[in-house]
Amino acid sequence: MSLMEKHAIFEKNSIVLLVGILLMVAIGGLVEIVPLFYLKSTIEKVEGMRPYTPLELAGRNIYIREGCYNCHSQMIRPMRDEIERYGHFSLAAESMYDHPFQWSSKRTGPDLARVGNKYSDKWQVEHLANPRSVVPDSIMPGYAFLAKNELDTRHLKAMVETHALVGVPYTADQIANVAADVAAQANPDDKNVDAMLKRYPKSVARDFDGNAAKVTEMDAMVAYLQMLGTLVDFKLYDDKANLR
Ligand code: HEC
Repeated sequence: MSLMEKHAIFEKNSIVLLVGILLMVAIGGLVEIVPLFYLKSTIEKVEGMRPYTPLELAGRNIYIREGCYNCHSQMIRPMRDEIERYGHFSLAAESMYDHPFQWSSKRTGPDLARVGNKYSDKWQVEHLANPRSVVPDSIMPGYAFLAKNELDTRHLKAMVETHALVGVPYTADQIANVAADVAAQANPDDKNVDAMLKRYPKSVARDFDGNAAKVTEMDAMVAYLQMLGTLVDFKLYDDKANLR
């Protein structure tokens, strides 16, 4: 009996075909899934990553609330055109503290994974308030209300605690100082700025929205945008691995 004839058993009998398919899928699944249980970690540790400051986390929540992910991705793929436009491709570790992650799948606007420090705070505020004031052809909607809305911090401590619960390594010190750290990060003259900067390395304290009178949703949003992609120092890795 030739191989073709043997195969006819599968083609003529749907139950045998079904059992055959299940067997193949099971083998494929095992080969892909079992090794994951033997790896210490599926995400390589990368120096520089830290949990979001409470103000950045608040900005991130507003980013999700406003659906910015409908038009913006935060995942630079390892392809030449993307790396030349946006910078180093995204590492898994860079979104390991993201709940939920913001990789997204659609780019009506550009990828934002490394938008931090690309523009001034003032540019970000003006762009968010009225995108066409700085990019005449922009089709992005305006979010001027962010500058008017005072930041609601009532649930922020619970938010940080919830992130700690799902594995983000917030310390007891960070959790106890959520309110103080929000106030300090949005006001460089605050007496707690040094303590805040120590709790969150590579964070910055600024009056992000240019309005010192209150902490607004704009402060939180700009604090978040300005830190995106700024935590990992790729010089440490690229010299070794020559990834770019
Ligand atoms: C309808 C789609 C759409 C939505 C929703 C949207 N954007 Fe945009 N965004 C764009 C487009 C298109 C551009 C490119 C033109 C420009 O710079 O305005 C852009 C540009 C940007 C840039 C500049 C990026 C760069 O590298 O130049 C930032 C930052 C940004 N958006 C943030 C946001 C944030 C934050 C939100 C949510 C509050 C948001 N966008 C919502 C479409 C959108």
